[in-house]
Amino acid sequence: MQDLATYRAHVNEATEFLREKVGGDARIGLILGTGLGKLAEEIEAATIIHYGDIPHFPISTVESHHGRLLSGKLGGVPVLAMQGRFHLYEGYDGRQITFPVRVMKQLGVETLLVSNAAGGMNPLFRRGDLMLLTDHINLQGVNPLTGPNADEWGPRFPDMSEPYDRGLRDIAEQAALNRAIRLQQGVYLAVEGPNLETRAEYRFLRTIGADAVGMSTVPEVIVGNHMGMRCMAISVITDECFPDSLEPVSMEDVLAAAAEAEPSLTAIMRAVVEEIGK
Ligand code: HPA
Repeated sequence: MQDLATYRAHVNEATEFLREKVGGDARIGLILGTGLGKLAEEIEAATIIHYGDIPHFPISTVESHHGRLLSGKLGGVPVLAMQGRFHLYEGYDGRQITFPVRVMKQLGVETLLVSNAAGGMNPLFRRGDLMLLTDHINLQGVNPLTGPNADEWGPRFPDMSEPYDRGLRDIAEQAALNRAIRLQQGVYLAVEGPNLETRAEYRFLRTIGADAVGMSTVPEVIVGNHMGMRCMAISVITDECFPDSLEPVSMEDVLAAAAEAEPSLTAIMRAVVEEIGK
């Protein structure tokens, strides 16, 4: 792992680079995951910056992820949006994955809205459902906060009693109700990936209290909480992970389900942004 002083210097350089390009108006940051990058198309007058052009930014290696940062307005509210994120399975460490969250906070972002694709283990969930995260379980085997703590960024032992902000969850729930969108709620469990789970693993993960499983989001939300950001996350349930009736799943199936759910997810995210930006 890179030493903390170098890491912080890199975060600062990326921050200064972006402050010049996009300013510091945005108080809301979005992270758009697998197959969910279309929300980005709704961002008006967007300045688009490729990750490769930002000093020290990691680069998305996953085909289904764009690698661009967008700055513009969603529903009239200034936002910064990551179209494509980073995962442990790409070979990045926890600090690299969460580099953009550190940068966003330094640019003035206070609220982090995250989307992802996940496998549904709760038997009441169906492919294409949306799930609002109420809590998470980190089973990735690593934590983005290990190593020396940067006290200016946050505490050594951050509280995790409510990683997903209650107020934001209420807004999302109301937005879904108003639009007659079914919004499930539950616990998201993060694994490292990249393989999907075995039947025995799904049975185990369900037993320990998870409703959905995926390969992202938890590192970003841990760092968001470390920096005192309010976080909210929504999963698209892209496959049904019921151990006793498990069917093979392809990446195409996952992307197709994500695409189907995208309009509902976009509507909720947009409504939440508009409500917070009031
Ligand atoms: N497991 C892990 N990650 C996933 C899954 C899954 O079943 N579906 C989509 N992302």
